[in-house]
Amino acid sequence: MKYCFENIKVDCPVYYYDVIDSTNTEAKRLAEKGVLSGALGYETDKILVLADAQTGGRGRRGRTWKSPTGTSVYMSLLLRPEISPDRASMLTLVMGLSVVEGLEQELGVKTQIKWPNDVVLNKKKLVGILTEMGMQGMEIDYLVIGVGMNVNVVDFPEELVDKATSLLIECGHLVEREKLISAVMDAFDRNYQVFLKTQDLAGLRERYEQVMANQNQPVRVLEPGNEYEGTAVGINAMGELLVEKEDGTCEAVYAGEVSVRGLYSYV
Ligand code: BTN
Repeated sequence: MKYCFENIKVDCPVYYYDVIDSTNTEAKRLAEKGVLSGALGYETDKILVLADAQTGGRGRRGRTWKSPTGTSVYMSLLLRPEISPDRASMLTLVMGLSVVEGLEQELGVKTQIKWPNDVVLNKKKLVGILTEMGMQGMEIDYLVIGVGMNVNVVDFPEELVDKATSLLIECGHLVEREKLISAVMDAFDRNYQVFLKTQDLAGLRERYEQVMANQNQPVRVLEPGNEYEGTAVGINAMGELLVEKEDGTCEAVYAGEVSVRGLYSYV
């Protein structure tokens, strides 16, 4: 098997596939086989699953994530955090921040986060994150954080042209995927340690808000059966978006089923 990501530097085992249905699905399969419990011959507390192409890439809300060969990053990090399940979604924000920091470190590119987890560049989506959880009774058995980064994509289908972009389109040159993955994983390792100290976003909140595209922007919140407008004024330690309404009250918006839109653009 030709290994596409030879120069990758991460401090955990990497499972690489030329083609896989979905790196998230594969990470879950590996978890079910006991990869984190030594069943595959070694002890580890995290695994990175990488693919050069996905045939069934999955996005949030049941959408598909187009995953052609050789142009982008499709990676899933498998972890077993000892945290309560209601805190799991916070790790999506930790990964979002880590992607922003990794991109800045490696390429000097300043991206932003559209809360909770889209990384955007010039108001278009560059990176999507899908976090999934496996439970053992009432506790987390494993967590999979999947990251799809549009790296050397030349063009997008008509329906995405106004909403999505790639590093190649924005920076004007090809980008080495290995270095990006290493930089993002490095940033994640640091941020994950900060997260674990308090098991919330208290230690990362300030940096997250600095790169939040919706910060101080008008937003429309679409909850099932409830829709309102306000101004996004930050996040709290639980990672909820704080939206100040015109009447001066403040709502804490939980990421789950909610959709938050900018009033004037996708961001
Ligand atoms: C989104 O809808 O914004 C989330 C997209 C997440 C896509 C990534 S690609 C790697 C991993 N494997 C998947 O099937 N999905 C995630």
